[in-house]
Amino acid sequence: MHEFRYKRGSLCCEGVSLESIAQRFGTPAYVYSHAALMDGYESLDKAFAPLPHLICYSVKSNSNLAVLRAMAKSGSGFDIVSGGELRRVLRAGASPRKIVFAGVGKTEDEIALAVEKRILFLTVESPAELELIEKVARRRGSVAGIAFRINPGVDPHTHRYITTGAAENKFGLDLGSALEAYNKSLRMKHLLPIAIQMHIGSQITETAPYVRAIRKVRPLLQQLWARGINLRFFDIGGGMGIVYRKERPSTAESFAAAILPELKSLDLHLILEPGRFIAGNAGILLTKVLYVKKGAVKNFVIVDAGMNDLIRPSLYGAYHEILPIRRRRAARMHADIVGPVCESGDFLGLDRTLTRPVAGDLLAVMGAGAYGFTMSSNYNSRRRAAELLVHGKGVDLIRARESSEDLMRGESIPAFLR
Ligand SMILES: Cc1ncc(COP(=O)(O)O)c(C=O)c1O
Repeated sequence: MHEFRYKRGSLCCEGVSLESIAQRFGTPAYVYSHAALMDGYESLDKAFAPLPHLICYSVKSNSNLAVLRAMAKSGSGFDIVSGGELRRVLRAGASPRKIVFAGVGKTEDEIALAVEKRILFLTVESPAELELIEKVARRRGSVAGIAFRINPGVDPHTHRYITTGAAENKFGLDLGSALEAYNKSLRMKHLLPIAIQMHIGSQITETAPYVRAIRKVRPLLQQLWARGINLRFFDIGGGMGIVYRKERPSTAESFAAAILPELKSLDLHLILEPGRFIAGNAGILLTKVLYVKKGAVKNFVIVDAGMNDLIRPSLYGAYHEILPIRRRRAARMHADIVGPVCESGDFLGLDRTLTRPVAGDLLAVMGAGAYGFTMSSNYNSRRRAAELLVHGKGVDLIRARESSEDLMRGESIPAFLR
């Protein structure tokens, strides 16, 4: 459910006006709605209730500690892709038995930490990684739960940068080599194959690619059973799409209605790894207009948030709706909404028609809760934005805006240059 609505002409998050947040905390700032986060999680949890399941919120989409804490408190598990994310979720109070660890390039240290913490399983993405996990677990005298990530070779009909289950992607093992990989893991004393995993891409609005992928993987499960390899978990990854513009993505209910019949005879615990579905529309990027400029062929609305704050428009050509915080009656204008970064590719929205703003006006870049702050950078030595969490009528600062000192932390000038 959307928790950003106009009340008497002023855009609010739950019970708090975004104008008051800008006044108190400045801009640019990410603002998240606790109710919307919970709604995303609970709607999936409820829709999949007929089957034993675990929702592992995908940390990469929004990894603020407060967001992770909210998810952990609601019972969520976590899908992580680095030692950094593992430390974060543990700090937020995650149960290690609800953590799954994917990624094609896990280092030995990261694997050692995961094995030490006894997470539910590591998802193996290559034969070389399998050997390394066995070596690390042997050294520690433990047995590590593993899954193989299977690349089912389906087209999820999404942006090519966020397609991950097609044959040419770097992720996972192809179906043909999976059986041998499971067999091999059985011969390794410090590994326990307990799951199968896939993740076919992101911002997938249809259910059909999931169904196709599950149907492609199912015969493998039967072959595994025939060899006495009884897995406990089927992890179908994340990727469920959301509305940015006019998409009509599946709802939690329609998604579950398509997936549940495919799995019900398998007697496996289902795992889902949603990120965007939970966090995407639970957050906005609040920004202030600095200048309105008339160019030779275009108008520009120059705002104080740039591609370093939200890279999705520049990186994927992603569309984010941009709304005025205060609705006013004024002439409309056609303009590009751009940031202050020294790149022509630094824009938040191109060719938009909007009420002509003036310097100081506030705008909300919608749908920025996932892959917003987590993909932000310090490019142009810009301080990363503050993050705020709204809960009813209250708002908490959950990450302070970086200081100029933060930007130079860890750097030094060598003696020969002094
Ligand atoms: C293995 C894995 N699981 C889950 C996700 C989360 O995807 P989404 O935010 O689209 O649900 C990703 C995203 O890249 C991923 O790589």
